Amino acid sequence: MTAAPAVEAVELVKHFGQTRAVDGVSFVVPTGTVLGLLGPNGAGKTTLVRMLTTLSVPTGGTGRVAGYDILREPTQVRRSMGLTGQAATVDEILTGRENLKLIGSLYGLPKSHVREATERLFDRFDLTEAADRMAKTYSGGMRRRLDLAVSLLAAPPILFLDEPTTGLDPQSRSGLWAVLRELVDEGTTLVLTTQYLEEADHLADEIVVVDHGKVIAAGTPTQLKDQAGQASVVVTLTNAADLDDAARLMRSHSPEVHVERGSRRLTARAAGLGDMTRIAAVFESSGIELDDLGLARPSLDDVFLHLTGHRAEAEAADGTTEQTPEGVTP
Ligand SMILES: Nc1ncnc2c1ncn2[C@@H]1O[C@H](COP(=O)(O)OP(=O)(O)O)[C@@H](O)[C@H]1O
Ligand SMILES: [Mg+2]
Repeated sequence: MTAAPAVEAVELVKHFGQTRAVDGVSFVVPTGTVLGLLGPNGAGKTTLVRMLTTLSVPTGGTGRVAGYDILREPTQVRRSMGLTGQAATVDEILTGRENLKLIGSLYGLPKSHVREATERLFDRFDLTEAADRMAKTYSGGMRRRLDLAVSLLAAPPILFLDEPTTGLDPQSRSGLWAVLRELVDEGTTLVLTTQYLEEADHLADEIVVVDHGKVIAAGTPTQLKDQAGQASVVVTLTNAADLDDAARLMRSHSPEVHVERGSRRLTARAAGLGDMTRIAAVFESSGIELDDLGLARPSLDDVFLHLTGHRAEAEAADGTTEQTPEGVTP
């Protein structure tokens, strides 16, 4: 398939006075895929999304959404995409249902479509029971889901999500992940920003890591992890008594073997699947019984540390408080 990319950033630049919020960022998002823009607070993620969704004019460069140029064809761009921003946009004193009705009329959508879509979206997002309550009574997770329902009212083929799960408790977060997965399965293209390495790993086909307005790495989650360090083969023995024999055996095939004393586990540096199958074959013919043998890769947390020299924001990573964080951009 040679379909046009859903989203393209072409050398995008945005300066605020001395601040180079975005400093020459390019990427391509093929139709039907998920791009994760991963970076810590202040990396430039929101600014990138605001430029691509025509809310902010670039200092330099351009972009395309659904094939339309963000500078020359902003109306067509807006018609092709939905946006769920970092700050909740729902109207507090309206009910959930009224919020959708309002957006529907702002967009000039047919009333029958809005009614039908509202039922379907509320059902999907588990908001049916709360549909006639004022949004100010909603929890953080419910507001995010209402926000998402609002962005999906016009069924846009391309959806931008700016930190969709920041501030949500783990359960609301995984609920939202499941909903996003469904959208992707139905063919929606997603561009999502996140500070959560785990989130990008879970949802994204491709990850672009940004820091200080620049792309510092890009690739599939697996490629990024490979970059951060080698994989290892982890062997769990059935009997702890075999530990020394097993270590000797593995050392004859791998230069770096780590034995976890007091456990039944051994770890060897591995270049990839080839090493794992070789070690499996060695144990097969040795008669030493194994409970488990597998390949362990570095986490995206390791990746981030490796690339930036610092860990992603710790307070954002615990996700235990449910609150709506304030947007930082006016
Ligand atoms: N409207 C603005 N005026 C001045 N500085 C801004 C504005 N918006 C963002 N910035 C600055 O640009 C940088 C990137 O911000 P932002 O895109 O919000 O990052 P992120 O979304 O990754 O946290 C930060 O240093 C931020 O303070
Ligand atoms: Mg942001």
